[in-house]
Amino acid sequence: MIYTNSMPQIEISPSILSADFANIESELNSISNADWAHIDVMDYHFVPNLTFGGPVVERYIKVNPIKSDVHLMIENPDRWAIDYAQMGADSVTFHNLAVSAPVRLARVLRKIGCKAAIALRPAEPVEPLFDILDEFDMVLIMTVEPGFGGQKFLEHQMPKVRRLRNFITKNNLNTNIQVDGGITSKNVHLAAESGANVFVAGSAVFLASDPAKEISAIRQNASDAYQD
Ligand code: DX5
Ligand code: ZN
Repeated sequence: MIYTNSMPQIEISPSILSADFANIESELNSISNADWAHIDVMDYHFVPNLTFGGPVVERYIKVNPIKSDVHLMIENPDRWAIDYAQMGADSVTFHNLAVSAPVRLARVLRKIGCKAAIALRPAEPVEPLFDILDEFDMVLIMTVEPGFGGQKFLEHQMPKVRRLRNFITKNNLNTNIQVDGGITSKNVHLAAESGANVFVAGSAVFLASDPAKEISAIRQNASDAYQD
């Protein structure tokens, strides 16, 4: 079993990438039983897609009734990530391949009261992060190539999640492991039993007829996978 100490807290973070951007306030209210709203910032450079930047995210954070989990898929997060923390994001994730000084950036974010997280694309190994893991509140293991919602979950990322959970447990750390991409209530057990505890789901939640019900199902199925 991967959990030798206490089991990590399950958190659900629906990605608003699949929400109706023209009605974002009511969309955010439809996921109020989630822990976080996951806000994907893309810049047409780090990923081949463009979403929104500072002024729009600032409004989203203001009208969001739950915590804001900002996922930056942008170049030069060393320059831009701090703006999102200062506008009230509760957590900011930047990509390992885009950042120059991850430890320095994480320390600045944490100093202003924001959680700091680092993300890995599917082809990146997790082991290089081990020596600096306590600098981060969370590691995001991408389970699709970042850039678009609605892609298929990459199950071959699960051994990486498992190696990270084993390291965290062995070293008594409390780093969260987030998975993002292709997660649904039907496959969340695969990520949960590998050791992930923060689950992002975009299309599965926002394209469901009842988003709150899908959130509950994801939470329940992840929890069941922990008991098995
Ligand atoms: C992809 C984004 C994800 C995406 C998830 O680059 O980071 O957050 O919106 O959407 P689904 O759950 O549809 O894969
Ligand atoms: Zn994301």
